[in-house]
Amino acid sequence: MNWNPDHYHLYTDHRLRPALDLLSQVTLASPSVIYDLGCGTGNVTSLLSKRWGEAVVIGIDSSEAMLRKAASDHPSLEWKLQEINDFSPVSKGNLIFSNAALHWLDDHETIFPRLLNQLRPGGVLAVQMPNNFLAPSHQTLYELAQSDAWIDRLGKLVRPAPVHDISWYYDLLSSKVQLLNIWETTYFQVLKGKNAVLEWTRGTALRPFLEALNEDEVKTFEAEYAKLLYEAYPQSEDGSTLYPFSRLFIVAEMPED
Ligand SMILES: C[S@@+](CC[C@H](N)C(=O)[O-])C[C@H]1O[C@@H](n2cnc3c(N)ncnc32)[C@H](O)[C@@H]1O
Repeated sequence: MNWNPDHYHLYTDHRLRPALDLLSQVTLASPSVIYDLGCGTGNVTSLLSKRWGEAVVIGIDSSEAMLRKAASDHPSLEWKLQEINDFSPVSKGNLIFSNAALHWLDDHETIFPRLLNQLRPGGVLAVQMPNNFLAPSHQTLYELAQSDAWIDRLGKLVRPAPVHDISWYYDLLSSKVQLLNIWETTYFQVLKGKNAVLEWTRGTALRPFLEALNEDEVKTFEAEYAKLLYEAYPQSEDGSTLYPFSRLFIVAEMPED
């Protein structure tokens, strides 16, 4: 999927806050090697580097466009073009951080234990994933893509919800770690502007669907989707739109040797 760094940054404050909430729960004193998986444009990677100034911090992402922006905004940090599924570093990490990226990958049953194996003793895996797949913003998108008019072009892009519930992650990880901190938060986001939820999803969930369509089809699809969104998330009189958004957080700490 092609990412657009400018569009992703439309709602920077709302997208950054969960990363800060995740970071606040990582208590490592002085990690020497930190990986940021799905680092995007590197905003969060640079915060990791600021917090642990002595550490080697490496941002990893599969999008050339996002990494180009990361390297231009933060030239002193290290960036690597790589699929998270291929992540197998020579030097294991003290911290593997991943904000808003792992939900793009299927098969968490394999990925999460594999990431734990890339940590040093006492190392920490810290993950935040959107968990809004059952919300109207996503369900209306999936239903529209599976409607008679669009199913041939878009039906195959509808994935089963990639994020499992908290107890599923607890059962998967608890026997492998010495400390497990899992929580979920719903942020009641107040978005400004016209078609605010459409603009939000255009930066993320809607992208794969638009990429499969030509210019005219994009206009038609977006108009139909915008109408459904407007019914689900009406704009209030002051022009703002309330868009509740749930996110799941996991901080897992490996045992010391
Ligand atoms: C929503 S952005 C989050 C960026 C950054 N972590 C942040 O918090 O600002 C998701 C990022 O994950 C990356 N991504 C998605 N799937 C990936 C994969 N399989 N391997 C590597 N990167 C991936 C995308 O390229 C994108 O830059």
